[in-house]
Amino acid sequence: MAEAPRNRLKAQIEEAAAVMERWLDGRRPEVGLILGSGLGPLAERIEEPAFLPFADVPHMQESTATSHVGRFVSGRLGGKPVLAMQGRLHGYEGNSAQQVAFPVWLMHELGVGTLVTTNAAGAINESYQVGDFCLMTDHINFTGRNPVVGTDPDGIAFRFFSMLDAYDPRLRAIANEVAAERGIPVQNGVYLGLLGPSFETPAEIRAFRAWGADTVAMSVCEEVIAARHVGMAVCGISLVSNMACGVEGASPNDVEVLEVAARREGDFCALVSGLVERL
Ligand code: HPA
Repeated sequence: MAEAPRNRLKAQIEEAAAVMERWLDGRRPEVGLILGSGLGPLAERIEEPAFLPFADVPHMQESTATSHVGRFVSGRLGGKPVLAMQGRLHGYEGNSAQQVAFPVWLMHELGVGTLVTTNAAGAINESYQVGDFCLMTDHINFTGRNPVVGTDPDGIAFRFFSMLDAYDPRLRAIANEVAAERGIPVQNGVYLGLLGPSFETPAEIRAFRAWGADTVAMSVCEEVIAARHVGMAVCGISLVSNMACGVEGASPNDVEVLEVAARREGDFCALVSGLVERL
């Protein structure tokens, strides 16, 4: 009999998880990592790595963004079994909110309880500096989309859930501790996510500042909503790759974003692996 349409997404997650379980071959990842623009090289530090292209996982979209390799990497980081996405899926690539969130639900299906999601972001807060990291304390979802819209009401998880402490204060405290010990400059701030792919206008940046946003980029919110939908603990880490448009006369561009990420790779790896080690 044809499957009831309301369970379609759940069935897709299970189908993808079955393929990934065969690939994981008994490994049980505890921590999921999403590595954003220019931050993929952390995957090279994963020990005993195994690789699986997104294209080999049913119902996963492929990554088309520059510097996003588009594969899963499983192995050990900071002594813990991890499952990393070397590259992510963005709305601006043409993916629906559910397609962006799909790998998060998939990680959860595989038993991952903690998600560390990372990106490069522009600083709206004028006291931040390029090269700082920013631990997300909260977000403003300005993508206009929500991945839980249209999900089957009972197939994955209940559709009405709280976004209080969506970014786990305990994980943030650990990350702050690691940063302090290792002399890594970190800020704690509110992240604003939008669809892109155009960068913002200076007027938008001024408006976002008035709303209380400290950083801005084109990812993360949809992933975090999906993670909270199924009860995963989340830590969000941005690398400040540039000052946002109009801040100190800045005009962001993708080359600068990747250059700064390459320059800050060492501290980024130390921060993330230090956090994972202490979970
Ligand atoms: N705006 C939006 N997305 C970004 C930025 C920015 O300034 N920097 C890196 N990703």
